[in-house]
Amino acid sequence: MAPILEVEDLKKRARRRVPKMFFDYADSGSWTESTYRANEHDFHDITLRQRVAVDMTNRSVATTMIGQDVSMPVALAPVGFCGMQWADGEILAAQAAEEFGVPFTLSTMSICSIEDVAENTTKPFWFQLYVMRDRDFVCNLIDRAKAAGCSALVITLDLQILGQRHKDLRNGLSAPPKFTPKHVWQIGTSPSWCMAMAMTKRRTFRNIVGHAKGVGDLSSLSSWTAEQFDPTLSWDDVEWIKERWGGPVILKGILDAEDARKSLNCGADAIVVSNHGGRQLDGAPSAIRALPDIVDAVGDKIEVHIDGGIRSGQDILKAVCLGAKGTYVGRPFVYGLGAGGKSGVSRLFEILHTELDTTMALCGERKITDLDRSNLHTVFGHRVT
Ligand code: FNR
Repeated sequence: MAPILEVEDLKKRARRRVPKMFFDYADSGSWTESTYRANEHDFHDITLRQRVAVDMTNRSVATTMIGQDVSMPVALAPVGFCGMQWADGEILAAQAAEEFGVPFTLSTMSICSIEDVAENTTKPFWFQLYVMRDRDFVCNLIDRAKAAGCSALVITLDLQILGQRHKDLRNGLSAPPKFTPKHVWQIGTSPSWCMAMAMTKRRTFRNIVGHAKGVGDLSSLSSWTAEQFDPTLSWDDVEWIKERWGGPVILKGILDAEDARKSLNCGADAIVVSNHGGRQLDGAPSAIRALPDIVDAVGDKIEVHIDGGIRSGQDILKAVCLGAKGTYVGRPFVYGLGAGGKSGVSRLFEILHTELDTTMALCGERKITDLDRSNLHTVFGHRVT
């Protein structure tokens, strides 16, 4: 088998192993996918400042995110449906993250439940909350995350209404799902995926089924989900959620300096500069392009994190130089799961860690916490140093 040397290798292997409709679900953005593509491309418009003859011994990429020690400034982004990329995907990714010393964020729309992940890990993980219309359900989710010992609540603000992904519609991956002979064929031609899936009992949205009013089976779940994203979500909601939760809060989906200031006023502990991996507002700037303005606006008062398009340690380093205290990867860990379950996610961490550490050394630095804009050569065509 070909060696796995970079994220692209994980992606290629996942494409071979995961049924097309689930692989496409991850490898897609909304409408023209221009923001999805820009998230990755724009990292190439930033160049690093190479320094030589600097002592490179005793390096460390360890740091903290919201006060928690991390072995590198990387967390796993909340990703729905992970348990369909690989059986028990959320549990496996959480275990790999725990072993590597980075945070795992469980999505509201996960296949494995909060309790499933808590029972199969030994350290606290983060929980991502979608604010649904059914506020009793939201309160219940918050209480369950608290009871499971989750150490941060990530509130996603950029999905009050769903961006359309053409691939999902073409594949029939919609609510309610339409299973056709094409799906059966896709599943049948993914034998290792099938075998793993046959062994698990976790095949539905277990945070929701049996917990939300009136949701007891797949068809009631589909219609419930379709109508539950709340178009009335406001900053006031963030305040009461924060109060009920009572722990660290991270606001995800901030792409504008004005919204970053509002997040600060809400008392958030951190924000994630994010366009949902290009799955919502098609035509929005890439996350890395939005980052500098947001850091300038609030970076000295609140922790700024970023996700979207990070595919290498070099990308992580660039984001850190531009002021991000932490980064998240979404699709890369989905590809890791699809390529090899838990070992695929662990391999992703090794790759990112090595790339980050070596790149930092070649920039003439020994501690990730020392990096800033002066380590960059050009940013989007502008000379920095
Ligand atoms: C996501 N994302 C996401 N975000 C969130 O807050 N809750 C969720 O349930 C999901 N689900 C989800 C599914 C899939 C398949 C993808 C690809 C993404 C967005 C995710 O947290 C993150 O913002 C992006 O994935 C970051 O971009 P990259 O790293 O995938 O380029």
